[in-house]
Amino acid sequence: MEKLFIAGGKPLRGTVQISGAKNSAVAVVPAAILAETTVVLDNLPQISDVGILTEILTELGATVEQNADQLVIHTEAMKSKPMPDGNVKKLRASYYLMGALLGKFGEATIGLPGGCNFEPRPIDQHIKGFEALGAEVKNEHGAIHIRAKELRGAKIYLDVVSVGATINIMLAATKAKGVTLIENAAKEPEIIDVATLLNAMGAKIKGAGTETIRIEGVSSLQGCRHTVIPDRIQAGTYMIAAAATRGDVVVDNVIPKHLEAVTAKLQEMGVHIYEMDESIRVVGQPEYQSVDVKALVYPGFATDLQSPMTTLMTQAKGVSILTDYVYNNRFQHIPELARMGAKIKVEGRSAVIEGSPLKAAKVKAADLRAGAALFIAGLCCSSDMVTELTGVEYIDRGYENLVTNLRNLGADIWRQSN
Ligand code: EPZ
Repeated sequence: MEKLFIAGGKPLRGTVQISGAKNSAVAVVPAAILAETTVVLDNLPQISDVGILTEILTELGATVEQNADQLVIHTEAMKSKPMPDGNVKKLRASYYLMGALLGKFGEATIGLPGGCNFEPRPIDQHIKGFEALGAEVKNEHGAIHIRAKELRGAKIYLDVVSVGATINIMLAATKAKGVTLIENAAKEPEIIDVATLLNAMGAKIKGAGTETIRIEGVSSLQGCRHTVIPDRIQAGTYMIAAAATRGDVVVDNVIPKHLEAVTAKLQEMGVHIYEMDESIRVVGQPEYQSVDVKALVYPGFATDLQSPMTTLMTQAKGVSILTDYVYNNRFQHIPELARMGAKIKVEGRSAVIEGSPLKAAKVKAADLRAGAALFIAGLCCSSDMVTELTGVEYIDRGYENLVTNLRNLGADIWRQSN
C-alpha cells in the first residue's frame, strides 16, 4: 500500500500546469464509442480513471493508441458486449458506457458503478431518461441491463440537477429518432465539453450549459479531434493549497471563468488573486477572514472543492460555515482533520468550522476530494512533524502528477510503498 508523507510549513511558490478535466475525460472517452471512425482526444489527464476506461474500450473491440495526453481511438471493430463486472466496477463514471452503448448498439449491460463512496449515489435519473427514450431497463444481479428496439426522442425533466444523468441521456439521445429535450439539465462546463465533442462528430445539440438541452437525433456519428477543457477542480485545489500555505502560485492553462466561485470566496477571505487570460495567480496572506460557503450546482461553489476549502477555512480567524446542498453527507474528511486538531462540528449538511492551527498526524483519505483536504492540511502544518496519508489510490484518480507538481512548488512531500 502506498502512503504520502508531508512535512509542512513551506509556502508553495511557482507555476503549476493544470491538466485536462477528469470529469470531462471520463465522459468523452466513452462518448468516442458513438463514432463510426477514429476519434482523437487531446489534453486528457494521465490519471487512473482514464487508464481504466481505455482498457474497457479495448475490451469492447476498439484499438486505442496512447501518446502522453492524447488518445487515438479506432472504433471500427467495436462490438456490443455485456460488462456486468470487472473494470466497470472500478469507477462510477463507467455509467457513461450505458448511454454510449445504448446509442451505438441499442443495448448495454453495465455493472453498477463503483468509485467514490462518500454516500449512496443513485442513478435513477439516468434510468428515467433511458426509459423515456424507449429503452427497457432492468436492474438485475448487480448490473443494469438496457435494451431498445428503437430510440425515440422525448421530453425529459430531471427531478434532480444531475451532471451524470444530463450527459448520459445526451449520449443516447444523439442517435434517437426525433428531438429530445432535457429540462432542468445540469450546466457544468464538462457538459458543454461533451456536447462540443458530439457536435464535432455530427450530432445536433443546442443549449448545453443551460437548463434546457435540445438534441436532434442523427443516423450516424463520425470521428473527429477534440481537446478536453482544463480541470477546474484540480486548479481550484492548487489555488486553495497556495492560500493555505500562504504561498504565491500561478495555476496555468485554466479558464478563469470556470473558477469564478472559488476566486470570489478566496478574495472574500483576504487572499490576493490576479486573473490573466489563461492563468490565475494566488498570493496568500498572513491572516484570513472567516467566510460562509454554500456548495451548489454550477455556477455555484463546486461541491468537489468543499473538502479542500474546509481545510483552508480552519486557517481563518473566527467561525466559518460550509454547507453542501449537492450531497447530504460529504464530510468523510472531517474526522481526519479533527485528528490534526481541526475544530469542526457537523450539523446536518453543514460544517461549523472554528479557526485553529493544524498539527501533523496519521490520516486516511476515504475519497478523492477528502484526500485533497488532507494533503492540504499536511502542507499547512508546522514543519517539525510529518503527516502520513493513506488512501493515495483515491488521490491518483483525480490529481495527475500530484507529488511532482507539489515538489516543484517547494513542498516537502514524498510517496512510499510498504
Ligand atoms: C459528477 O458526479 C462528478 N463526477 C462528481 O465529482 C461531482 O461531485 C458531481 O458531478 C456534482 O458536481 C463525474 O463527473 C465523474 P450528480 P455525478 O449526478 O454525475 C443526485 C469528483 O470528486 N442524483 O450531478 O454522479 C446525487 O445523489 C466527483 O470528481 C440522484 O439523486 O453527480 C447527488 O446528490 C465526485 N439521482 C446530486 O444528484 C441520479 O440519478 C448530484 O449528483 C443522479 C444523481
